[in-house]
Amino acid sequence: MSMDLTEKAQGILRGNDRGGYTLPTKGLYPYQWNWDSAFAAWGFATFDADRGWQELETLMSGQWEDGMIPHILFHRPDPGYFPGPDVWQGRGPIPSSGISQPPVAASFMAKMLAMDPTGEARARAMWPALKRWHRWFMDWRLDRGAVCVTHPWEAGRDNAPDWDGAMRAIDADDVGEYTRRDTSHVDPAMRPTKYDYDRYLKLVQIGVSVGWDHEKLREINPFRVADPTMTFTLLRAQRDLAAMGRRFGEDVSEIEEWIAVLEDGAETLWNPEIGGYDSRDVRAGRFNGVLSNASMLCWYAGINDARALPALERMLAAAEYGLASYDPEAEGFESLRYWRGPTWPIMNYLVGSGLEEQGLDGPAARIRRDTARLMEAHGFAEYYDPHTSAPAGGGSFTWTAAVWLGWAGHAPQHQQGAA
Ligand code: GLC
Repeated sequence: MSMDLTEKAQGILRGNDRGGYTLPTKGLYPYQWNWDSAFAAWGFATFDADRGWQELETLMSGQWEDGMIPHILFHRPDPGYFPGPDVWQGRGPIPSSGISQPPVAASFMAKMLAMDPTGEARARAMWPALKRWHRWFMDWRLDRGAVCVTHPWEAGRDNAPDWDGAMRAIDADDVGEYTRRDTSHVDPAMRPTKYDYDRYLKLVQIGVSVGWDHEKLREINPFRVADPTMTFTLLRAQRDLAAMGRRFGEDVSEIEEWIAVLEDGAETLWNPEIGGYDSRDVRAGRFNGVLSNASMLCWYAGINDARALPALERMLAAAEYGLASYDPEAEGFESLRYWRGPTWPIMNYLVGSGLEEQGLDGPAARIRRDTARLMEAHGFAEYYDPHTSAPAGGGSFTWTAAVWLGWAGHAPQHQQGAA
């Protein structure tokens, strides 16, 4: 492991630390993001266990009464970001957005507990909140056992091609005037288009119009897409939550039932036409036909599915650096536009560590090595061009640094236990 890069990665976490929570990166993302924060906690845990636990505790402190843990917590107002707390009007104890994000927190908590058993009391204290959050997904977000997103940002893959069909069905003519801030921080060619942004905001306005009542939204929200990111991360998180619960002497029978529901739900995402797990447009009743890096999260979720291997191998063969966010051979692939092609270290980690756990050493080693090469060549960017390795999006990125500290910076043989 390169000490130099390790020190730099630690420096990024420290530099983005705002006292109890960590920004994804300065400027572009000036608040606490849900799944970024779980990665940050794990990154901190590699050199400052206390700070790692604190990150998760701060995230939990934004939990809504109904159990949801929001995708953004607006701890301190920052005019450099749009849409902010006044637009979202979340109804939790801390100003927040009104949607959630992939629930990876329980899985990172399990890893952190293995790294620091002295943190058991803190993990135990958070366990019930995580269970309430997981229940919230089971109550409000399922379609045939698969987990749905109600806004593209909920999946964490903001402008992935998965959402194009459902976005076309949204009428955003009356969305009104607004000023974006993201395009003043990074090149607009790398960011979502105005067409997409109008629809992102329209969906927020719909949520606000019913006070983020999830029961109503289930009826009226035009956007409801069953998504592999959500389904696989929640399935994995439920397994980790159950394992911790057993250790803490909790009754985990309900979580075991949830696991069975989600396993069945995952199967409803299998699209034989693309030979991979796909997202499903629930309103339109059809698959989206998108092979993405999220399609490859089955192993991470504990599903060792040989059917998915040919597509994985093809996607890896079609790119030079890691797993592209969208099939490089698909029409519409764009190597630098956000979730429409670039390679993302955090997704590489989730997919790669899942493959490692399932004993698929070849593709796992390839993804891990490529991820390390990207950081060795260009430091800790938000994402990279999978053909040229060019860094893109925001720089000094927290979760990219965390992936170096927790995984990519170690040779696989040095890794302790399950990844
Ligand atoms: C973008 C990403 C999302 C992430 C956030 C902060 O919105 O798509 O996954 O959580 O940035 O890094």
